[in-house]
Amino acid sequence: MAGTRDIFGSLTIDKLPTKSFLCSHVRRHQQNYVSSPNSLPYSRKSTLVQVKKVVAAPMAAALIKAETPVQFKVKALVTVKYDTVENVKDMMFRWLDSDGHTAQRGVILQLVSTEVDPKLGKPKLSKETMFQWSRNLKVNADKVTHKVQFLVDAKFGVPGAIIVTNKYHKEFYLESIAIEGLVHFDCNSWVQPDRVQAEKRIFFSNKAYLPNDTPVGLKELRDKDLRQLRGDGEGIRTLSDRIYDYDVYNDLGYPDKGAKYVRPILGGRTQPYPRRCRTGRPPANSDVNAESTVTRYMPQYVPRDEAFEDLKIAAVTEGKWKLMLSSLLPSLKEAASINSDVIRTFSDINDLYKESAPFELKSKNEFREKAHLPRMLNKMINESVQDIFKFDHPKIVSRDNPSCFLRDDELGRLTLAGMNPLSIERLKVFPPVSKLDPSIHGSQDSALREEHIVCQLNGMSVQQALEENKLFILDYHDVYLPFLNRINAHHNRKAYATRAIFLLTHLGSLKPIAIELSLPEKNQNVPAKRVLTPPVDATTCWLWQLGKAHVCSNDAGAHQLIQHWLRTHACLEPLIIAAHRQLSVMHPIYKLLHPHTRYTMDVNAQGRRLLLNAGGIIESHLSTAECSMEITASSYQNWWRFDMESLPADLIRRGIAVPDPTQPHGLKLLIEDYPYANDGLLIWSAIEELVGTYVNYYYPEASSIQSDSELNNWYHEFINVGHADICHASWWPKLSTPNDLVSILTTIIWVASAYHAAVNFGMYPYGGYFPVRPPFMRRLLPNERDPDHASFFADPEGYFLASLPCLSEMLHYISVLHILSTHSADEEYLGDRKDLSNWAGDPQILEAFYKFSMEMRRIEKEIEKRNADPKLRNRCGAGVSPYELLLPSSGPGATCRGVPTSASL
Ligand SMILES: [Fe+2]
Repeated sequence: MAGTRDIFGSLTIDKLPTKSFLCSHVRRHQQNYVSSPNSLPYSRKSTLVQVKKVVAAPMAAALIKAETPVQFKVKALVTVKYDTVENVKDMMFRWLDSDGHTAQRGVILQLVSTEVDPKLGKPKLSKETMFQWSRNLKVNADKVTHKVQFLVDAKFGVPGAIIVTNKYHKEFYLESIAIEGLVHFDCNSWVQPDRVQAEKRIFFSNKAYLPNDTPVGLKELRDKDLRQLRGDGEGIRTLSDRIYDYDVYNDLGYPDKGAKYVRPILGGRTQPYPRRCRTGRPPANSDVNAESTVTRYMPQYVPRDEAFEDLKIAAVTEGKWKLMLSSLLPSLKEAASINSDVIRTFSDINDLYKESAPFELKSKNEFREKAHLPRMLNKMINESVQDIFKFDHPKIVSRDNPSCFLRDDELGRLTLAGMNPLSIERLKVFPPVSKLDPSIHGSQDSALREEHIVCQLNGMSVQQALEENKLFILDYHDVYLPFLNRINAHHNRKAYATRAIFLLTHLGSLKPIAIELSLPEKNQNVPAKRVLTPPVDATTCWLWQLGKAHVCSNDAGAHQLIQHWLRTHACLEPLIIAAHRQLSVMHPIYKLLHPHTRYTMDVNAQGRRLLLNAGGIIESHLSTAECSMEITASSYQNWWRFDMESLPADLIRRGIAVPDPTQPHGLKLLIEDYPYANDGLLIWSAIEELVGTYVNYYYPEASSIQSDSELNNWYHEFINVGHADICHASWWPKLSTPNDLVSILTTIIWVASAYHAAVNFGMYPYGGYFPVRPPFMRRLLPNERDPDHASFFADPEGYFLASLPCLSEMLHYISVLHILSTHSADEEYLGDRKDLSNWAGDPQILEAFYKFSMEMRRIEKEIEKRNADPKLRNRCGAGVSPYELLLPSSGPGATCRGVPTSASL
């Protein structure tokens, strides 16, 4: 943050002298007010004392006698943030706006008291005051503080709100208003010109109020502000709006481009889905039910305050620039003599990760001529192309000895400490049984048999191994099988529905002991089910490697679509919308949740437009292709449950843990060295403690929950509108007691912060080396009836390499993974909240948050200690990458660590 400047640009309507001692008066009564919100802060006696102090004695005596209202000036500091980089249009507006002689321009402020004027029956108001930009203002700081003065009556009471009107041409970002250092208003919002939005903006002081405790002078404004945020459900949203409303996912396809780009609407009876933010864009020409495409003239809407800030935009723009260049690879490779797109040897792949770029540039002139690119773009390319195609070594690859094969022990370890530690489950029944409808998908039986695994069980029978909790499974059978016919109809895209069985060894590691590969039964030429076991010779070694690659490919898709997108981004969005529509910014639960919603709506909107859309990055680079979002809808309908999203419930559901009150977190882990769960439980408990303190402070008893209309409306709308398609499920948690609320809020904060960090910021470090984690495969395993079987025998390495995506496809995809794994410079991490002024009036809450911050630091030390403990083989050992995804702090970049407060990428 750059420095600040003070600007004396305020105008006051009256010219009475400033009475600074009003501050001490307000402070004294504000303290009283905190303990008794409904009491009036000023007594008749104290008012008279004030008058004696501020007015000359003869005049004061006269005023006392006549009880004539006395007015005071109250100083305030208004902090406004500026764009550090202005475009020409912005500069023009600012120049127009900075004409100090134009009385009509300026920012008008008016204080609102917490009290009502008994004569008028309306809130007490100050006189309006105004500040203006100065034409000569040289903005060399990113924020500027303006001094203003309000004129208030002596019996004004405590200020509770400020009404702001922007009379300029351009929006501005109002960061805060501080009144005499006593009452603070954290605004943090864009204020639009009144010619754009006629309704005046309302900002409330930082004091939190439950609805029933709202000071009488603020009640009407509290309701009015919420009505503004809800809108009326009509019209096309513009970028300056701040309206939060719901819609279904009817914006993923482009029906006007042809049938290939039509996508089903997600949300509704047919394909249940969480709701997204409504934009109101008109329907497509060829389908009235589909939303039209985002264009330059109809840009992607998110409520104005949800949009990325400057530093985030800079980080994303840099990433997009690299991505754009990697998409130009076909042009570049011709011009730059890139190696062939076909992978001939493993070194072709490993070259991507070496210090040098994977090709040498020809002379700049020749390059420019051959690439046929615009001059400006060419200039940028020539300057940075060497950087674009350099990739840091992902964590999954040892720099000294990159291996294109995933070792068995590493496959097991990554299910516990990789980018997707959420899919591993304890095997409760063997053979596993499908839950799919047999009339549609064929037999529910598995091809796995006891003889496939018994020799791997160290003398145990299968039943013994089950009873002793030694068998675990990655089971993607039911996720993928219904979609395989459509996936495998694609040229060069072939997938199985996989299962991988693991044995928990006496050392605490997971060892893969069998893989089942399933296809739909209709295919007569290829066996529907195939079981692989650990290799015993050269042929089975290559088949085993191919089988593991297919398992990892399934895992890559399920991770991205279900564990990441669905469970965090998609399911959080309706919660955020409901919070803005139903919880006042004064509400303590809004204040608690708000930092955990930062950037999520903008990330989701950009995700729908660039990643999840028809023909977008996800469809282009995951095996699931055009079925991708339907797979998430299927999981949402058949599997997702809000009550299972807490960490303890998730671990119990997957059979990884059992309840045990004697254990530190009330759980006994059946895989003791499970880094995601071990570290996650530390953070879960810390969040739970903070939330418990918070909730019990504001809701000392159940009746206070039940009588909180905003809270109940928020939760009701979150379920019944945001998750309307599954709102009748019996598993939705009740909200009746403080404990209910603690559980709900802890789950939300966990999902938005630590859960999301665990699945998001390892995408490149753990997924950036595609031979061991291919996002899709191009070939099925060879079988004896396959004409290519002979070529597999002749050149198994060539078969393996030809099964992987080609280089240019992967270059593009790992560029995307790198962007998605990168923290921006303005990231806010758990326990490192910069602005605690929201709770300035509640010292107990402030103390709880400081305690939480200290706990995050202690957890960080504890995780570092664990990562250095050689007994913990799943996070420490020769060449083993430490598990750092739940280390709370991080710097910018793809650091593979850091827990942001929100799903911010
Ligand atoms: Fe994310």
